[in-house]
Amino acid sequence: MITVDNQQLSGLLEQMTLEEKIAQMLQLVASYFVGSEDDGQITGPMESLGITEETVNQAGSILGLGGAAKVIQVQQDHLKNDRLGIPMIFMADIVHGYKTIFPIPLAIGCSWDQELAEQSAAIAAKESAVSGLHVTFAPMVDLVRDPRWGRVMESTGEDPYLNSLFARAFVRGFQGEDLTNDVSRVAACVKHFAAYGAGEGGREYNTVDLSERQLREYYLPAYKAALDEGCELVMTSFNTVHGSPATGNRTLMRDLLRAELGFDGVLISDWGAVIELIAHGVAEDESAAAYLAVQAGVDIEMMTSCYVKHLPELVRSGKVEESLIDEAVLRILNLKNKLGLFDNPLRGADPEAERAIVFCDEHRSVSRELASQSCVLLKNTGVLPLQAEQRIALIGPFAQSKDILGSWSWMGAEEDIMTLDTAIQAKAKITSSNVLVAEGSGIDSITETQWKEALDVARQADVIVLAVGESSHMSGEGGSRADIRLPEAQLQLMDHLRTLDKPIVTVVFNGRPLDLQGIHDQADAVLEAWFPGSEGATAITDILYGEVNPSGRLSMSFPHAVGQVPVYYNHFNTGRPQKESEPDNRYSSKYLDIPNEPLFPFGYGLSYTEFKYGEIALSAEGITTDRPLQVTTTITNTGDTAGVEVVQLYIRDITGEVVRPMKELKAFSKVLLQPGESKEVSFTVTEEQLRYHHSDLSYTSDTGEFAVFVGANSRDVSERRFRLLK
Ligand code: GLC
Repeated sequence: MITVDNQQLSGLLEQMTLEEKIAQMLQLVASYFVGSEDDGQITGPMESLGITEETVNQAGSILGLGGAAKVIQVQQDHLKNDRLGIPMIFMADIVHGYKTIFPIPLAIGCSWDQELAEQSAAIAAKESAVSGLHVTFAPMVDLVRDPRWGRVMESTGEDPYLNSLFARAFVRGFQGEDLTNDVSRVAACVKHFAAYGAGEGGREYNTVDLSERQLREYYLPAYKAALDEGCELVMTSFNTVHGSPATGNRTLMRDLLRAELGFDGVLISDWGAVIELIAHGVAEDESAAAYLAVQAGVDIEMMTSCYVKHLPELVRSGKVEESLIDEAVLRILNLKNKLGLFDNPLRGADPEAERAIVFCDEHRSVSRELASQSCVLLKNTGVLPLQAEQRIALIGPFAQSKDILGSWSWMGAEEDIMTLDTAIQAKAKITSSNVLVAEGSGIDSITETQWKEALDVARQADVIVLAVGESSHMSGEGGSRADIRLPEAQLQLMDHLRTLDKPIVTVVFNGRPLDLQGIHDQADAVLEAWFPGSEGATAITDILYGEVNPSGRLSMSFPHAVGQVPVYYNHFNTGRPQKESEPDNRYSSKYLDIPNEPLFPFGYGLSYTEFKYGEIALSAEGITTDRPLQVTTTITNTGDTAGVEVVQLYIRDITGEVVRPMKELKAFSKVLLQPGESKEVSFTVTEEQLRYHHSDLSYTSDTGEFAVFVGANSRDVSERRFRLLK
């Protein structure tokens, strides 16, 4: 692919009228181009945007059009109408797959497998690119601690280190090594900058107000990791940061994102986030909103028209320097150039290749592998794995449901999905009479006929597999819930089934950590399946029948109750920590009605085998900047099944200049062990990993005492001490 040089781009810019430049800063949804009744469903039809047909014809980019033939048609039509023949960029939300849908990112976070995550992004890019797309609005790397928020499903979880590793993996997968010449890749857009996951009360689009230290210590690392990996775009977040909405926040965007983090790529607003500066109460009208956003360095306005309607006047009146427009448009033209669009405006769009590549068996098998790595076994009294000869009663609203792709699975087709009953019947390799199916209840409704039919079916079985969960609309954007239990109807179904003296295996489909009271305490086994994607039913069945030994580990804590939220592992000690020796001390940091610890902690997950940890050996009692610490232990598979253990290493800074978390994940290793096999696992802890933001925001380490923990999760660990010396 040939790119033009910067001088040519500057020359192109000089030929553009002010209106043409500003049109480059407009992004509209596909329906403005391919004609459909749902023009701009959130921000109203075109007339409410007050834009002309000419402006649409000059728009710089398009959101949400997929399909090689359609993209080719729209791009070619556009080029006929655009005076200077500047191609459009085609962008869309390919968050966990294009047509081959992978588990939701929160599930991928539980795989702790960056290689598979990178592979999933590379496949998503390949299917997207051949279908005409150039940019994906992913990875979403917002750190999350509040499962009431619907978009926790889109994040990889509560830990900055793990999120950073996944952010890098996704960017590598989407963009590859040579975005210009490798037309099977797409540009990535890390989002949402910044700290969208910290909304008060877990309520969607709510106020975020956190300290600069919290921002830098927990929320910023994953965005920085994506940028360090070369992510081409950043998307603004809807929320405020330090009292100023991100999309109009000059300090956040120009000083932190561009100057400090060195980002010089395209900054795109989230949908409608520019005009929403009015609702936030920082802009009195659309002109003021346009002024704030362009001063903050927002290059593209998504789906509203403050820029096209007001920037020309703002520039002509001298309120906005035209140089601000030029720098924004040059960044957009640079991105188009890096994508090779001036040389080939159709880039990778290829209808014939699309038919062969999209949703091909090879891609689906990767989705199945990743789904089986992402499920987390939360409880098992021994009822799992199932035996093929067992008579199974598959019951619940997800027994035959195709709603297992989760939110942000745009092109994923439900008709391509195998349901759990079909997968179990295929796996059981026995006549279907041994797998009896009854819905038992809906997602949030239950009738006497339903539960009685379920009991009739269950009475005939050896084991009940109860498939429950949230519908995909109960999470994702706009999907905040104040009560994070399963819907009452499903809890009632469990109560009815519990009246039978039959083992119950519960499979949970959900987009967030749930309050599993009424499920985990009643079931003999609980398999957390999340929304497992296109091949989820097969992957779950592989686990239920022991073809795959589950190795998923939670990347986000499960609370005892929603009243415990936010609950996360890297919390502070407080001045009155609850002591094991004095659990009832009233005057300690605790609840009267539930424990402090989560129901299931960060890093937790069971296996069909057991692993034994040896003592922790340290290479020294003290380390320095030049002499890191070697931490070694031996892991043994003491069971009779091969299995993968995720050996986790945490540290604690015993005394800091500010309070320091009880644990911080610093390393982990996925170890495959055959029955009886032992392996030595070694980690290196460096002084750099002990650094943190001090009260003056300096990022340094302190000499003094540290604890190092090694174990199976953030709770079940062994501890040793060491010192950081001068
Ligand atoms: C949505 C989301 C954002 C998405 C964009 C385009 O409102 O917040 O994540 O990329 O609009 O669909």
